[in-house]
Amino acid sequence: MKMKTDFETMNRQAAEMLAEEPWHVAAMSNLSALIMENMADLNWAGFYLRRGEGLVVGPFQGKPACIHIPMGKGVCGTTALRDRTTVVPDVHAFPGHIACDSASRSELVIPLHSAGAVVAVLDLDSPVEDRFSEEDQHTLEALSRLIEARIAWAE
Ligand code: SME
Repeated sequence: MKMKTDFETMNRQAAEMLAEEPWHVAAMSNLSALIMENMADLNWAGFYLRRGEGLVVGPFQGKPACIHIPMGKGVCGTTALRDRTTVVPDVHAFPGHIACDSASRSELVIPLHSAGAVVAVLDLDSPVEDRFSEEDQHTLEALSRLIEARIAWAE
C-alpha cells in the first residue's frame, strides 16, 4: 500500500519556510526535516549539491551518507546527468545504486535547476520496496519547482 502524504500542508509550510529564509543552507535543512516529518517510511531525505565535477552531500535527515557522488553514478548522479526524475522501486535492481544505508529499498531523486542547469538533487530513500507513488513524484516535482523559484544559492 502506498502511503498518503498531506502534501497540501507540507508544501504550504515549505513555501512559508522559503519566504522567511531563502538562503539555501537554511532552506534545505528545514525542507529535509519537513519532508522527513511528513512522509511516512523514509530513512533518508535531503539534498546533494553540484560542486566541481560531481555532487557533494548537502543538508539532510537520516544516517551519515556518501559525501561525493560522481555525475552519472548511482541514482543521484544519473538523475543529475540525465536531468530527469528517477523513481527506483527496488534499489537492488538499479545498476550502480550507491548503498549509503543498507536499509534503503526504494528511492526517488528529482533534479533542481538554477538558470537552466542542474545545481542539486532532492533525494528520498525508503526502507519499503516500491514506496513512491506517481502522486509522490508529481507533488515533489511541483515542490522542487517552488524551491527553484524561491531559493537563494549565493553564499
Ligand atoms: N542511493 C544514492 C546515494 C545517496 S544515499 O541514498 C543518501 C545513489 O545511488 O545515488
